[in-house]
Amino acid sequence: MKTENITIRTSPSLALIKYWGKSDTGENIPATSSLAVTLEGLFTETKISVHSRDEVVINGSSAAIERYIPFFNRIRKVLDADIYFKAESHSNFPTAAGLASSSSGFAALALGCAKLIDPKTDQKVISELARLGSASASRAVYGGFTALRKDSTSAEQLFDKKHWPKLKIIVAIVAGKEKEVSSRAAMENARKTSPYYKQWLGESETIYQQAVKACYAKDLNALGPLIRKSYLMMFSTMFTSEPPLLYWEPSTIALIKTCEELRILGLPAWETMDAGPQVKIFTLDEYTPEILKTLKKKFPEIQFIISQVGDDPTIINGN
Ligand code: PMV
Repeated sequence: MKTENITIRTSPSLALIKYWGKSDTGENIPATSSLAVTLEGLFTETKISVHSRDEVVINGSSAAIERYIPFFNRIRKVLDADIYFKAESHSNFPTAAGLASSSSGFAALALGCAKLIDPKTDQKVISELARLGSASASRAVYGGFTALRKDSTSAEQLFDKKHWPKLKIIVAIVAGKEKEVSSRAAMENARKTSPYYKQWLGESETIYQQAVKACYAKDLNALGPLIRKSYLMMFSTMFTSEPPLLYWEPSTIALIKTCEELRILGLPAWETMDAGPQVKIFTLDEYTPEILKTLKKKFPEIQFIISQVGDDPTIINGN
């Protein structure tokens, strides 16, 4: 261990093809294969220091430590270290609101703790550790286009950030408030109660394989309908859960309809949502100004952030 603290910056992992549901094979292992991009410009910065007890402070407020203790215990065990951690984390976007803050948060935590103990820790081990906190976080330890295959313990990078520079993502911040039901609880309830859950598992694998090919070919016309199908099927398991779950706000639906109108006009605007009301729209560079103009005119109250595929996490200071 070289230094007493380290600061890591990670960006959220946005899934084009969703992970939703856990496999029976182990701890927080996905039952579906997901394909994602790491988002540039949105980030979580986390300072990890050696401390007298485990402590997590998020955006200035102490977090309930129970969620983190098993995670820290596992890091200590896997990396054979007898220390406690203090993590102080800030994000430049709303947290716990369906913007994948748990992906960047747990990726930063796993990277920071592991690099503090041993700067040479393997990326695969870090991805596995991040997965224990949040499965999508296992993808966020890499930049570019990433995949977390069903029944896998770690994610991988499929293509780096330079693969498809024309791809743009417009993030619409519909509501900044924290969600009432966590993705963890929601997917577990879908697994237990939705009659469509089994179909989702089967269908999502086919969608995943087609989407990887479309991504490789940089073909948004082929990828777009798969992005849409993935979120529609994922949300169908929530609508048909007992009790049903609806993360969307009226503006979410208005944005879905606007994307449809834009597509009819020949502008590729392919929306997706996660466990929250925020809408993320995939498009291409040349169409972004026109799409943004329409969106800003129709939704003056909504904040739009233009993003693209981002790079690997960065170490701001430390090992
Ligand atoms: O990794 P979790 O537990 O935050 O779940 C993420 C679930 C989705 O964001 C809805 C989909 C995904 O693949 O990121």
